Amino acid sequence: MPQTPRLPRILHRFLVTACVAACAVAAEADVSVKIENQGKAISPDLFGIFFEDINYAADGGLYAELIQNRSFDYQATEQLTWNPLTAWELTTRGGGEGVLAIDAADPIHPNNPNYLVLQVREPGDGVGVVNTGFDGIPVKAGESYNLSLFAKQLYLGDRWRPTAGPAGATPPPPVPQHEGKRPPLIVRLESKDGENLGEASLELPAREWTRLTATLTASRTDDAARLVVLANVKSGLAFDMISLFPKKTFHGRPNGLRADLAQVIADLKPHFVRFPGGCLVHGNGLGNTYQWKNTIGPIEQRKGQADLWGYHQSVGLGYFEFFEFCEDIGAKPLPVVSAGVSCQNSGRSRGTGQQGFSLEEMPAYIQDILDLIEYANAPASSTWGAKRAAAGHPESFHLQYLGVGNEDAQTPVFRERFKMIYDAVKAKHPEITVIGTVGPSPDGTGFDAGWKFANELALPFVDEHYYMKPEWFLANQHRYDTYDRTKTKVYVGEYASKGNALANALAEAAYMTSLERNGDVVGLASYAPLLARDGHTQWNPNLIYFNATGVFPTVNYYVQQLFAINAGSLYFSAEVSPAAGDGSAGSTPLAVSCVKDAATGDLILKLVNVGPSALPAQVNLSGFGKIDPAASCTVLTGDPAAKNTPAAPRTVVPATTAFTAGPSFHYDVPANALVIIRMKSR
Ligand code: AHR
Repeated sequence: MPQTPRLPRILHRFLVTACVAACAVAAEADVSVKIENQGKAISPDLFGIFFEDINYAADGGLYAELIQNRSFDYQATEQLTWNPLTAWELTTRGGGEGVLAIDAADPIHPNNPNYLVLQVREPGDGVGVVNTGFDGIPVKAGESYNLSLFAKQLYLGDRWRPTAGPAGATPPPPVPQHEGKRPPLIVRLESKDGENLGEASLELPAREWTRLTATLTASRTDDAARLVVLANVKSGLAFDMISLFPKKTFHGRPNGLRADLAQVIADLKPHFVRFPGGCLVHGNGLGNTYQWKNTIGPIEQRKGQADLWGYHQSVGLGYFEFFEFCEDIGAKPLPVVSAGVSCQNSGRSRGTGQQGFSLEEMPAYIQDILDLIEYANAPASSTWGAKRAAAGHPESFHLQYLGVGNEDAQTPVFRERFKMIYDAVKAKHPEITVIGTVGPSPDGTGFDAGWKFANELALPFVDEHYYMKPEWFLANQHRYDTYDRTKTKVYVGEYASKGNALANALAEAAYMTSLERNGDVVGLASYAPLLARDGHTQWNPNLIYFNATGVFPTVNYYVQQLFAINAGSLYFSAEVSPAAGDGSAGSTPLAVSCVKDAATGDLILKLVNVGPSALPAQVNLSGFGKIDPAASCTVLTGDPAAKNTPAAPRTVVPATTAFTAGPSFHYDVPANALVIIRMKSR
């Protein structure tokens, strides 16, 4: 790691003196915090988020689709108990008889091979199919749901021939639209007990794939309803891409995001969004590499695939939706592409490990990456800009950052392919900031090799990852103080302190004050993972838990939020004496940072007390000139073991009160607390 001396002292100093009472009976200790006032420019993008489809974060999560396995693509290779009919079942009513099958001949699109075949032998009171959603389909009284599906009529002969008539034969006439009294097709929301919660009728489709749509309005709230598609005529029907979205998606986007979950993410006020993963990007073997081109265009033409985390990704939440979401929440997009190698942990049972695209395959792969930049930024007149425009966004998505690789083993295979990609992007798009990778650990041989490689290439940024105990975060608050300011900058792309208790969140908060202090060399940071569907996790802890109807931000979430909404563009050096908050013997359990937000002119003082006792502090900010007395103070505090859970979601939440500030004031920093005092300096 490149080392330089600590930052030089700057002109003015502001003194915060705090007397620490270790406990009610312990002796007081003095703490000095010096704030130097010239201010150091720090990254305007420092605090963002990292989205990966892990823990059902996309399908069954942020992506608002309510139908599970909508295009009959689930496979036993994704989960042993799965098959293309998972989450679907046959329903026969009032003497109805029929069968379900899966076929793949003459699909809607080659990227979407499987479809459902329904043979209605005897309609009775209806024969059809039921989808049980992701743990049920939550519907709300009075709200509308947009249904769409693709369907076609099949031939009905002496024997069941789902896909074609005899060669050269004249097709029999289609089944009449209204053979009986009931409409030929009904789509209905039903409770588990069969109560009709809202329905619509559809005409029978033609013999070619036809898109049919309807709006269903729920008569009452049901957290675990089902979707039923019923045929009332003797027929052979094919169905695919049976989709149901709430009308109310985030920002009303079609093919959009779950409004409540997206809003909680938006409320984090992230400055950037890294997507679509993590390990998911380089994939479980080369065939599983995330290919962005498979994730754009009409949903029935997208190519879903196994999710490395053990389920299926429909890629309905694809690159267009990611870019659009970034724009909707005012965050910069930070896509990550594979460096041309698969995950080194690929196929553990088969031991395939890291594999690289062949050198013959690399030019096409590199072209895909260049095309991604064109898709994001180029005018609508360009080949890929035209596809973006066709999706409804002629304007640029203003792509600035591009991650290449994720935690890759630093092998010759990786290095060769990374360099090919980097050279090509740099040559064609010098305006793009490429972010490399230094492996999965905060230190060690892979980490060192990654940094050596980054320095050789003079990379703009590298991505460091660490999932460590809270003690590590407290002890490593000086990690970046000695990084070389003139070389490659750091993106802390994934970090977490292995727990969702307040004590974990405070360790992360203390560490984040050090990221602010080093915001001239640490340009970006994101906690990981972001989302987890309660009961469907492959990884814990996470930042936000949710289920079908609720969203449950952790205490860690509030720390991320408080730092993002109280970010600054200038840092003022803050020092605590004796040594602050690193957990060592005799150190003060207080981490401090002070920033100024150029946009508002606000001065923001962050105090993190990771100790069990309040710290009386005398704060002196006289070097800033006049401080407006009307300020605010936000406090996140509680039992260090406390957590927010779905059962007790608001156990620890921040509270903001009016605060009287001044050039000098006294403040008792509560025990186990993150405190943010936001002031106006004049
Ligand atoms: O955040 C979960 C996983 O942790 C990511 O996919 C990977 O990059 C890291 O190992």
